[in-house]
Formats: sequence, C-alpha cells, structure tokens
Amino acid sequence: MTEQPKAASTGRLLPNAIACGDAREQAARIPPGTVDLALWSPPYLMGKPYERDLSLRSWTELMYELLALHAEVLRPGAFAVVNISDMRTWPEPALPPGPYAEIRHRQGGVTAADVAAARRAHPAASEKEIARLLGCSDQTVARRERGSAHRAGRRPPTRVLRTSAIIEEAATAAGLYLYDHRVWSKTPAWKNNAWTASAYRAVDEWEHLLFFHRPGPFLYDRGRLDHDEWAEWGSRGIWKIPSVRRNEDAAPRFPDELAARIVRMLTEPGELVLDPFVGAGTTTAVAHLLERRWIGIDVNPRNAEAALDRTLLQHAAGEPTPEANDASRAVH
Ligand SMILES: C[S@@+](CC[C@H](N)C(=O)[O-])C[C@H]1O[C@@H](n2cnc3c(N)ncnc32)[C@H](O)[C@@H]1O
Repeated sequence: MTEQPKAASTGRLLPNAIACGDAREQAARIPPGTVDLALWSPPYLMGKPYERDLSLRSWTELMYELLALHAEVLRPGAFAVVNISDMRTWPEPALPPGPYAEIRHRQGGVTAADVAAARRAHPAASEKEIARLLGCSDQTVARRERGSAHRAGRRPPTRVLRTSAIIEEAATAAGLYLYDHRVWSKTPAWKNNAWTASAYRAVDEWEHLLFFHRPGPFLYDRGRLDHDEWAEWGSRGIWKIPSVRRNEDAAPRFPDELAARIVRMLTEPGELVLDPFVGAGTTTAVAHLLERRWIGIDVNPRNAEAALDRTLLQHAAGEPTPEANDASRAVH
C-alpha cells in the first residue's frame, strides 16, 4: 500500500482512495455534499471475530453518528443504500428461563450414560466433538451433563432483534428517508444457523436493502437500465443472487452483482460512490469498473489494503476505469 503524506489523514478525503480508520472519523474528512451514492453493509453484530469490540450500544452509536454524517456528505437528492441482515436472536433477560428445547431431544436418543461413556473414552474432546461422536447436538451433550442448558445458564432465552429497524430509526433521525426497501434473497446459511434445527425459526436466507434518500432534487433516468433489466430486477422487490463463498472468519461480503445493480441504478459514470465499511472492496471495485469515482473506508488495515488492491486490479485487468488521480492510494 502506498503511503500518503501524514497530513493527508487529517486533510480532505478525495475520490479514488481507500482510507484506513473509523468510518466516522474518515467520513468527516469528505467534503460536504459531494457523495452521489453511499453503499454499505455494516458489521452485523453476529459475534464474528472482527466484531468483538462492538456492543449493541456502541454499534447503535456508530450507526447514528455515521448516518448523521451521511446527511452532510451526500449531495441533496442522493441515496444511501444499506445492506443488513437482522440479528436474529439476542439474549433477553426479561424472558422466563424456559426450557426451550425440541421435544424429541428431551425424550430419547442420547442418554446421560452415553455422554459419560464418550467422555471417559475421549477425555480431551470438546463438547462439540463429543456431540459429533454421538451424532447429536452440543446442546444435547450439555443437557445430559448439566441438566437443561438454559437452567445451567449457558443459553439464555433469546428474542429477535431487528438491527435493520435501528438503522431505519438512525437514518430518519438524521433526516434521511426510506425511499425503497428490497430483499436480497441469498444462499441459505444452514451452517451459521445451529439454532434453526432446534427452533421454529427460519434459516438465514435473506437480507435487507434499505434505500435512504437525502431530500433534494432527484432526477431519475429510466434509461439507465434496458427494458429487460427493469423487468428482471430493476422493478423487482426480491433480488435472488447467490452469496459469495467465504472463509468463516473473514468479513462477509456482498456479491458484485448486488453492488453493480445499485451503482448502475443510482449513479452516472464519473459520480462518487462511498463505502465506509469497504471490507473486501466490493463496492469500490465495482464502482471503478463502472467508471464511477470511489471512496472506501475500513478500520482494519489489512482489509483497507486488500480492498485497494482489488479495486485497482479492475484497472490492471484492462477494464474501463476512471482517470486515476493522485489520491488513488490508501490513506493512513
Ligand atoms: C460486512 S464487512 C463489509 C464487506 C463489504 N461490503 C464487501 O462486500 O466487501 C464490514 C467491514 O466493516 C469494517 N468495520 C467495522 N467497524 C468499522 C468502523 N467503525 N469503521 C470502519 N470500518 C469498520 C470491518 O473491518 C469489515 O471489513
């Protein structure tokens, strides 16, 4: 990653750069009224390794503060599109302690004696490994060893928390209004949803796309898509696009196709696209490919560097690109 002069990190953040730092600090460096589209997906509060410093409270503050900044950096009439999956389950101390268990698990199958025998045979095995050996869930192992998992305090009862609702409230508070709401129908995430098998809850297989509008003149151009594109997705509420396969510990990324649809619908070539949670650089890479200008921000230096490489690779691949300017490098 090429380093900018130190002064750059406190000066104005100009197009065609990836800045490394907190989304709020860095977005505050963008000249007001210059962003034509913000497109992002925040950390989802799913307990992933890269989210370990976030509590619900600090996440909510991040959303409120960042959306308030959007109301300044977006051009009047421009959009901020937020992609988020709701945090499906959240411990709720107000709920009675349960039990919350699948009835067949309570009646038969693996017994406490089976678990004790497996423990004796494999003293170093984890709960998960014992569960695998016995062909049951790790909750069953916990229940057989310690009574109800809920009574043991291991799994407090949960309720659904709609993080998308918090984002909508934060946007409205900032003066950005929900213009449209679509659903990204993705690949069902069976592996991420251990609880799906032991509850009536649906598997995680869709995400929200919330289109917020900064009030102002909005001249829409139906000519940005052709007739078939409007019919197939431009006018459709559900976008069926497979998820990007990824490593469990890596930040999830949205598909290029999803970013490309939004960038094409809401901007013209040469306009500026911002992603303050740039991650793997999907938004900036797609924006670059589609001849838009771009700004990415990420708090993780490795992600910022990878996003820049991926974005500029579009250039190296000989795809159409905007004029590279002096700011086409990461900023520390
Ligand atoms: C869900 S990923 C975004 C993936 C991206 N949409 C893509 O397709 O590549 C979220 C990213 O936000 C970054 N992040 C988390 N908190 C941040 C903050 N306060 N400021 C800036 N970036 C942050 C993480 O490092 C992670 O790369």
